[in-house]
Order: sequence, then structure tokens, then C-alpha cells
Amino acid sequence: MLGPNGAGKTTLISILAGLAKATGGSVKVLGHDVQGDFAAARRSLGVVPQELVFDPFFNVRETLRIQSGYFGVKNNDAWIDELLESLGLADKASSNMRQLSGGMKRRVLVAQALVHKPPIIVLDEPTAGVDVELRQTLWHFVARLNREGHTVLLTTHYLEEAEALCNRVAMLKHGNVVKLSSMSDLLKTATSNVLQFKTDGALPAAVEVRARVTGRIVQIPAQDAGDVEQLLAALREGGVMPEDVEIRRADLEDVFIHVMNEQQGGGA
Ligand SMILES: Nc1ncnc2c1ncn2[C@@H]1O[C@H](COP(=O)(O)OP(=O)(O)OP(=O)(O)O)[C@@H](O)[C@H]1O
Ligand SMILES: [Mg+2]
Repeated sequence: MLGPNGAGKTTLISILAGLAKATGGSVKVLGHDVQGDFAAARRSLGVVPQELVFDPFFNVRETLRIQSGYFGVKNNDAWIDELLESLGLADKASSNMRQLSGGMKRRVLVAQALVHKPPIIVLDEPTAGVDVELRQTLWHFVARLNREGHTVLLTTHYLEEAEALCNRVAMLKHGNVVKLSSMSDLLKTATSNVLQFKTDGALPAAVEVRARVTGRIVQIPAQDAGDVEQLLAALREGGVMPEDVEIRRADLEDVFIHVMNEQQGGGA
């Protein structure tokens, strides 16, 4: 689930988890209505929240046992040990939550979401502020759970992460789903190529309106070879010397920017 800040991703997850009440419509999790059949809907979900929330009075193992208790699960120490092991927390089992680094706390949140072996795992920006190693550990683990039959719902602002991991994409804007598609269809229908180069020069106005500029790097969607030629000609006429020129296929970030711009002004 992708969308700019404030699009409503966390709000939708809160509605799924029964933390917020929808003002309209109905939501079911595996057929269980999130209000009428709350307990069953909630049991189907393991939610890793965006914010780091933890109880400072307990150690890691206690935290996981207490969480299990909320779901009426007892004597699941073997599974807790497996979670601790898989998430690189084994040597922190007796550490107080307060003493853990931010990344370690995030690992505990992931373990917490999984104590009752939910069929659906919801990850709300799990990799924000997370180092490379934890990212790898996390994705390795989540991919395994997915292979074992768990459905994973992920929100992230790292689009290359979404592209690598997800089969289906929903894009949200102002609380509306503005795109819902399989990843491969979405990338296939991305008509364009992207002309990418580096420059210090000021882009001609006609080029600038189409360009995505990050520091010295300029990326411009282009339909075909003719379009690329015209862009390069416009740059030449504008006295811009592009360096490190390459043409690549549009990726998810290009599609995302395109979809969001298309929806400009079409707000909720
Ligand atoms: N408890 C609340 N009461 C009222 N409005 C809220 C509440 N929480 C969030 N909002 C508003 O709802 C909108 C959607 O917020 P939400 O947190 O769902 O966005 P998001 O897509 O998760 O964004 P981000 O990428 O920043 O996490 C925002 O305009 C936000 O200000
Ligand atoms: Mg959010």
C-alpha cells in the first residue's frame, strides 16, 4: 500500500485493527467484519505499528508472553524462541525494553505482531529508520512467512523495496484508492522509458516541466526513441551538457509519481 504522507495508510490499518472506526463502508478481514466480529478479525491480523510503542517495565520475553496472553495463547515459548532467533533477538530476551536501541525495539514489535501466528501480517513502514542489516533480516524473515502461506500487507516509502517484494499494489491519495493492480501489470503498462543524466546547467523550461530533479541527477519520462531524441535536442539548444546519459525502463517510482500527478486536484 503506497501513498504520500497523510494519504490514509495508517488510518486504514487502524480501521482493520479496530483502533479507529470507519465513518462509512464496511471492512472485513478474512470474512470477519472488523466491528461485528471484532475478536475474530483481530486474531487474523498481526500488526507492526509505524510508531515505536513499548512497555518500559518488561523485558523482551515478558513482552512477548504478555502479548500472547492478549490472544489467549499459552505455553508458546518454543515459538517465542523461534521468533527471537529469526529476528536476531536471542541474546536480548532478558533485556529490558528501555535498554534496546530503536532498531531492536522495532524487531520486538515485529515479534509481538507474530506471537499468535496470524494469517495476515500488516507492516506499517517497518523499515523507516532501520539499518541495512535489519532490513535484510526482516525481509528474509517476512519472505519466509509469505512462502509459508501468510499474507503480508506492507506500507513503505521505499519504492524499490515495494517493487522487489510485493505482488499487488494499491496506491492511496486523500483517502482514496487511485490505483490497484498487480505489480507486473503496473510496470508493464508504464508506457515510458526514462532518460537519465547528470548536469549542473539550468534545464530549458520545456524540459524542466517534465523532469524529476534530485541534486545533479535529472530523470525525464520519454515515450520512445523519437521522444528521447527531441529531449536531447532541446537540451543541446538550451546549452545543457548532459553527463552519464542513460535510458532505462520506468520503475515503480516513475509510475507512482505519474499516478499521483494524474490525480492532482482530484482530492477527497
Ligand atoms: N487520530 C486522528 N484524528 C484525526 N485525524 C487524524 C488522526 N490520525 C491521522 N489523522 C489524519 O488522517 C490523515 C491520514 O493520516 P494517516 O496517518 O493515515 O496517513 P499515512 O498515509 O499513514 O501517512 P504517513 O505516510 O505519513 O504515515 C492525515 O490527514 C492525518 O492528519
Ligand atoms: Mg502512516
